[in-house]
Amino acid sequence: MPDHAVRTILVTSALPYANGPLHLGHLLEQVQTDIWVRFQKSRGHHCSYVCADDAHGTAIMLTAEQSGISPEQQIEQMHAEHARDSAGFLVEFDNFYSTHTEENRFFSELIYTRLRDRGYIVQRDITQAYDPEQGLFLSDRYIKGTCPRCKTADQYGDNCEACGAAYSPNELIDAVSALSGARPEQRESSHFFFDLPQFTELLRGWIGQGALQPQIANKLNEWLEGGLREWDISRDAPYFGFEIPDQPGKYFYVWLDAPIGYMASHRNLCEREGLDFDSYWRPDSSAELHHFIGKDIINFHGLFWPAMLSAAGYRMPTAVHTHGYLTVEGAKMSKSRGTFIKARTYLEHLDAEYLRYYFAARLNGAVDDIDLNLEDFVQRVNSDVIGKVVNIASRCAGFLRKQFDNRLSAECSEPQLLLEFTSQGETIAQYYEQREYARAVRAIMALADRANQYIDAKQPWVLARQEGGQAETHAVCSVALNLFRILMVYLQPVLPAMAQKSAIFLRAGMNWEDRRQTLLGHRIEPFKPLLTRIDTAQLKAVVNASRE
Ligand code: MSP
Ligand code: ZN
Repeated sequence: MPDHAVRTILVTSALPYANGPLHLGHLLEQVQTDIWVRFQKSRGHHCSYVCADDAHGTAIMLTAEQSGISPEQQIEQMHAEHARDSAGFLVEFDNFYSTHTEENRFFSELIYTRLRDRGYIVQRDITQAYDPEQGLFLSDRYIKGTCPRCKTADQYGDNCEACGAAYSPNELIDAVSALSGARPEQRESSHFFFDLPQFTELLRGWIGQGALQPQIANKLNEWLEGGLREWDISRDAPYFGFEIPDQPGKYFYVWLDAPIGYMASHRNLCEREGLDFDSYWRPDSSAELHHFIGKDIINFHGLFWPAMLSAAGYRMPTAVHTHGYLTVEGAKMSKSRGTFIKARTYLEHLDAEYLRYYFAARLNGAVDDIDLNLEDFVQRVNSDVIGKVVNIASRCAGFLRKQFDNRLSAECSEPQLLLEFTSQGETIAQYYEQREYARAVRAIMALADRANQYIDAKQPWVLARQEGGQAETHAVCSVALNLFRILMVYLQPVLPAMAQKSAIFLRAGMNWEDRRQTLLGHRIEPFKPLLTRIDTAQLKAVVNASRE
């Protein structure tokens, strides 16, 4: 049991859109979150990890239409695929739900009506581009035309990819609907807005509380300085989403009900497990609420969501942890280069734990982009995980089996060395807590080096052949396996499957505090391979299969 107070923690990853498969960028986020959650659980805290598919919006409606299926069928298929792919990467949600559920409808309506009744919703008419052939209003990304500045053709409605100009869609030259090619009309319609400016001071206070990385807090403060604007939370039919109460033909904008999906997923979990939902969400809750997100969705999690929560009488997030984008070989993932790698494609060729380790070795808690360099990936995994960690166990297991009947010595010949390993636990824990996984991994690998140096110095393979060397061989191999066990406790959040196999091999617990209990006179199981080297050919196969 932990020697500190038990915390109650609710953790989320951003909800993936249900209109496409997961790729390695999504996994950078989910793996990062999962490591943190597994770490908290290992420390004995009560931690729940919820996620869901983000099932609403125009894009999903159109994707389904193109495939000739209903949106409901589309989101059901995607949900199964996403759940399978996350699980393939050993991402262990306590609940993976959907925003298209009764719980989410309930909370969306409840929050909206509270906002409305408290005077935070305003109604206004706006003019918008409308596609007369498709019969729907067009968001900026569904309008294309020639850039008003550099005159490059075929640019999106909000900015030019050629010259970087930002503009509004009605400035585009010869604008057409990207859906039908029809010339958009300007039509009026009535929309509902959340009165965000009323929450400027509240947000300023929350941002100042240390809930965010400094870089993100600065960005949000800049936005506050620039003045907040009302947020359009409604969309006109046809739309795949929830209809707004008492407003036929008007739907909640997908980004209104998406973060509420965190609550819906949690509520569903609470009902299944008999947990007290309200104790997490009431304003004076002592439970922690942590969101992990990518840098493109900061405004939603740093402004709209905390303001909505507070306005509706709920607690605000304890922290929002923002990460950068995953690049591959130094560039944005690209289908033509074969670096737009889907989760599924990776899993068909490579073990999930390789990537989990590589991500951990690169993540430093900052908002910088993270690069997957393929050569570095192979090199690091092979030299660290296999060459350093697995090696400790595989070098010693044979002697224990052949000469000592798989039983460790009854006494520890190196208590000081073991203490050196266990006492690093608090430092490494701090690194995990701060999401500085790269530092945690470096500290763990330094210990692995130390363990290998010990074995090299003692040379059990020489001792084993010496007259009277039996006892020392036994002592050295037993110490080495105890060191290995401590390393696996530290690596368990990153490499859960390997830790699980080690737990079976050593017949020992792998939670954080278990490391203090030395295995003496203890019988172990026969050693089985834990993880094998990455073969560069497997990696090439992934890239080839990803090339379009
Ligand atoms: N549906 C919204 C999130 C709603 S949360 C209430 C969304 N979905 S997404 O599928 O586009 O992205 C899901 C998460 O994956 C986001 O946090 C996003 O930043 C992250 N990533 C998507 N592509 C990414 C990379 N290439 N690299 C790292 N993270 C990326 O946004
Ligand atoms: Zn341009």
